[in-house]
Amino acid sequence: MKPTLLMARAVFPDVLDYLGQYFDVEANQEDILFSQDALIAKLQGKDALYAVSSQLVPAAVIAACPRLQMIGNMAVGFNNIDLAAATAAGILVSNTPDVLTETTADFAWALLMATARRVTESEHWLRAGKWDRWCYDGFLGADVHGATLGILGMGRIGQSIARRSMGFDMRVIYHNRSRLAESDEQYANNAQLVSKEELLRTADHLVLALPYSPAVHHTIGAAEIAQMQPGATLINIARGGIVDDVALIAALREHRIAAAGLDVYENEPAFHPDFLALSNVVLTPHIASASAPTRRAMAMCAARNLVAAFSGEQPPNLVNPGVTRKVVAHG
Ligand code: GLV
Repeated sequence: MKPTLLMARAVFPDVLDYLGQYFDVEANQEDILFSQDALIAKLQGKDALYAVSSQLVPAAVIAACPRLQMIGNMAVGFNNIDLAAATAAGILVSNTPDVLTETTADFAWALLMATARRVTESEHWLRAGKWDRWCYDGFLGADVHGATLGILGMGRIGQSIARRSMGFDMRVIYHNRSRLAESDEQYANNAQLVSKEELLRTADHLVLALPYSPAVHHTIGAAEIAQMQPGATLINIARGGIVDDVALIAALREHRIAAAGLDVYENEPAFHPDFLALSNVVLTPHIASASAPTRRAMAMCAARNLVAAFSGEQPPNLVNPGVTRKVVAHG
């Protein structure tokens, strides 16, 4: 008998076909969003869950699904899952690192450039039929070349973002839990470790690339934004909740920093509506990893982790390798 798998969301059909070779799959190609109760009901009798970052798997779900043995998350971040509860319950959890690093770094740059040079704001103005003459001071933005790029969270994605700054002759500073190896700092355009305060004070363009955990909730709030330069831009391609969105809205409204580029929000997709009234923010719907090849690679990576686990192998991207896997009696 094949193990049973629930798909939290729709996925590429060929990935579903691949999973079907190994699992008895309950697909969700209608892409229905499951409430917590619906998820619990669907997970009864399931051995595994194919999850995405917007599907919350809190401790209550884990407690209510005794047969669940593995959650394969199609994302590098896994803060949607209560990892401690999963680990305590003997549930394997995997993610999809590496395959999205370069694409996400590309997108951080897309947001940075669009934000600093007011690309979407000026396009909206043009589309609204307001362009009737060239002006010497029309849509003046900030330079990117020669500026100081600050990166908070210097993992693989942060380093790839930093590396791209070589072509813009930028100085790179970063703040991280620990200093990178010298070779990694060199790779990252000779990035220099600084304190969080110096990062905030000095960066012309500050990019957030750190994973979310409760410990970094509102790491960028009113006090931190107050330390930034008035002409600075803030880019968040990491996770909602790292920035205090209400504090950011107030700062943007009062032009205490020049602009922000956001791909992630608190409570997304129900993000704070006041962002919509601001012209100095570029808003995208959590698409940093959304190139066609990368989303396919992520989908297959999540699938392969699940297949490996149920084929008796170590999933390549286990995020709780110390877990003692539960033994489930099938019947
Ligand atoms: C996307 O946000 C991811 O964590 O992969």
